[in-house]
Amino acid sequence: MDDRQRLDTATAGLRPPFAVLDMDALRANAADMTRRAGRKPIRVASKSIRCRPILERVLAMDGFAGVMAFTLPEALWLVSTGLRDVLVAYPTVDADALRALGSDDTAAREITVMVDSPEHLDLIEGLGLPRPVRICLDIDAAFVTLAGRFRAGALRSPVREPDQAAGFAADVVKRPAFRLVGLMSYEAQIAGVGDNVPGPYGRAIRWMQDRSRRELIVRRGRVVRAVRQVADLEFVNGGGTGSIEKTAAERVITEVAAGSGLFHPRLFDFYRNFSGHPAALFALPVVRKPSPTVATVLGGGYHASGPPGPARLPQPYLPAGLRYDANEGAGEVQTPLLGQAAEDLRVGDRVWFRHAKAGELCEHFATLHLVEGDRVVDEVPTYRGEGKAFL
Ligand SMILES: Cc1ncc(COP(=O)(O)O)c(C=O)c1O
Repeated sequence: MDDRQRLDTATAGLRPPFAVLDMDALRANAADMTRRAGRKPIRVASKSIRCRPILERVLAMDGFAGVMAFTLPEALWLVSTGLRDVLVAYPTVDADALRALGSDDTAAREITVMVDSPEHLDLIEGLGLPRPVRICLDIDAAFVTLAGRFRAGALRSPVREPDQAAGFAADVVKRPAFRLVGLMSYEAQIAGVGDNVPGPYGRAIRWMQDRSRRELIVRRGRVVRAVRQVADLEFVNGGGTGSIEKTAAERVITEVAAGSGLFHPRLFDFYRNFSGHPAALFALPVVRKPSPTVATVLGGGYHASGPPGPARLPQPYLPAGLRYDANEGAGEVQTPLLGQAAEDLRVGDRVWFRHAKAGELCEHFATLHLVEGDRVVDEVPTYRGEGKAFL
């Protein structure tokens, strides 16, 4: 049985649109990720999952520990449902959520918030919370060269150099409102940029990533040593799905963050150091045939975040050989599909898609149907299905 037949068989009783998670694929992806991490634990990036029961299942697997959340309200919710050790990876200015954090023993013990500037510290300190807040420093991991004229990486923290980081750490530890427990630096230009690309562009990416990695090993080492002079850090976090083995190999790193690799969405097909199994898929029904060579499915316009372009569109996956119409792309309520395979599709058939990114898929579906082999064995709610929309 090929994958299309298997998925069609498993979900024959379901009416599309719906989303599935292929659990065999997810487990294989998880095993490969932990192998790449060596003995260092992987903190699960919840933005790339957005489904609590799946976060729980992944955290029950060997090699995964802790959650990297994307907002403080999300972290508070996760902890209220029993999850532990939640790092909010992006700064928060939500005073209500911070008050909730400071007024609850478990939340204050299990959640760590991200800062990169004295403004963040002033904002939290100004709330006069009754419990100290666990703090993680965000350190810029971008690659900068040509005297600052070339930069690759995310525009995040302004803290970059060891002396800056140590000075900032000293500012944190002298304030009783805080406990400095962690340091994080995410090298998006390595972890999130596929290097298996042909031609000069691919060569440029590989050159940049190689230089960046060498620069990071030295600078991140110095930053961590400088901050450790000031505070006893519980963890030093770095990396993402695309960089797991490289980040984990750095001595000062105690854990890596990753999530996308579990679902293995389209954007993660372009890496030389690993390949994964597409685990998260969604099915849309063919609802009309504008002509014998075109099959139009219902919905489909689930664009991924990031720089706009074709790479951010879902991939028509099965049957193979479908493509978008250049004028319509992936549509708000319907999507015409062209190509050889469209000729064989009839009204009522289904087309399987992959999202370009991982967790964003779950913002469009209330549940994930869990597939084992050729059977659906469970149905679990996404964040959306639990009535939660954090971003
Ligand atoms: C801080 C941080 N760490 C790690 C990651 C990597 O996550 P993933 O492996 O899910 O792509 C990201 C992704 O944007 C991130 O922002």
